[in-house]
Amino acid sequence: MQTTGPSLTGVRLVLAVTGSIAAYKAVGLLRLLRREGATVHVVMTTGACRFVTPLTFEVLSGSHVATDLFEAHQEMLHLSLPEQAQAIVIAPATANCLAKAALGLADDLLSTMLLTTQCPVIFAPAMDGDMWHHPTVVEHVAALRTRGAIIVEPEEGPLASGRSGQGRLADESRILSVLHAALHPRRDWSGRRLLISAGPTQEAIDPVRFISNRSSGKMGYALAESAQARGAEVLLVSGPTALTPPVGVELCPVTTAEDMRKAMMSRFTWSDTVIMAAAVADFRPAQPATQKLKKRQQSLTNLALTPTDDILKELGERRTTQVLVGFAAETQDLLAHARENCKLRV
Ligand SMILES: Cc1cc2nc3c(=O)[nH]c(=O)nc-3n(C[C@H](O)[C@H](O)[C@H](O)COP(=O)(O)O)c2cc1C
Repeated sequence: MQTTGPSLTGVRLVLAVTGSIAAYKAVGLLRLLRREGATVHVVMTTGACRFVTPLTFEVLSGSHVATDLFEAHQEMLHLSLPEQAQAIVIAPATANCLAKAALGLADDLLSTMLLTTQCPVIFAPAMDGDMWHHPTVVEHVAALRTRGAIIVEPEEGPLASGRSGQGRLADESRILSVLHAALHPRRDWSGRRLLISAGPTQEAIDPVRFISNRSSGKMGYALAESAQARGAEVLLVSGPTALTPPVGVELCPVTTAEDMRKAMMSRFTWSDTVIMAAAVADFRPAQPATQKLKKRQQSLTNLALTPTDDILKELGERRTTQVLVGFAAETQDLLAHARENCKLRV
């Protein structure tokens, strides 16, 4: 596999494995880290040992696998391992492990280590989708982020339960690139001010119904997160999404295309770069009903729509020195349509 960024030659890491069904994937990750030149000490929870044997990690890491806080008490592994490590990667990280880390519990080697470490800590959670979205897990993840932990969000797709959702352990190449970024943080965007839009807008039909689109907001949120990580000040103007805003990014929540237009215009002069990653509605109901439309009494065959204001076009007209970046979702002739869009607006 091809990897990006500098190699890990000479880098000392702790790879912590917890009791998720995805524990077997940590074997592949360990091999990748070793191939990249890192020295890796593996720590396993009791739960992890139920899924994969320490022997596998011992052979592949070339060193003893620590599983017990009290096992080698003279070496004080909970202090010595994090002291020597340049980063700790927890993959997969269970809901239990996130909870213990967020609350500062210290009842096994890994959780105790996390209270003593000064180096970057990367959690790559893996769990069932319902667990990942459980309010307690969401709270713990947010608390960890606030304290500087790096979370590699799990991916969407088929899960071990047979269901589908967000919960799959992130791909090992993604974990590796996050690790590279943690080891070599770039602050080359310090002093820059980015105004980023994200997500869909919702246009009311009546007080309870709206027209919207399938935008998840992930693109805008990811751009905001990396710009912030590179030192930029970021204002994220976001339509309704299920995403947690990145730590350190100012969030301006909006609902309609008009809300978004107003928010973007009011901060435009503050910014030096604008990225329109939002999927702004092109049309809205011309006359939203003030009361809920009744199923039996009304016909909606003639829902009149009116175009919304073109935010990117307006930004293009007002632009002085700002860099403007637009996104266009197309279903055909992608480049041709995107170029045409660009000519019309900027
Ligand atoms: C078959 C099986 C699969 C599991 N998979 C996960 C998982 O993917 N993610 C998770 O958070 N917990 C999972 N669990 C639950 C954890 O193993 C359990 O919460 C355990 O206490 C975690 O301990 P640890 O965090 O100390 O490793 C699974 C349990 C079983 C029996």
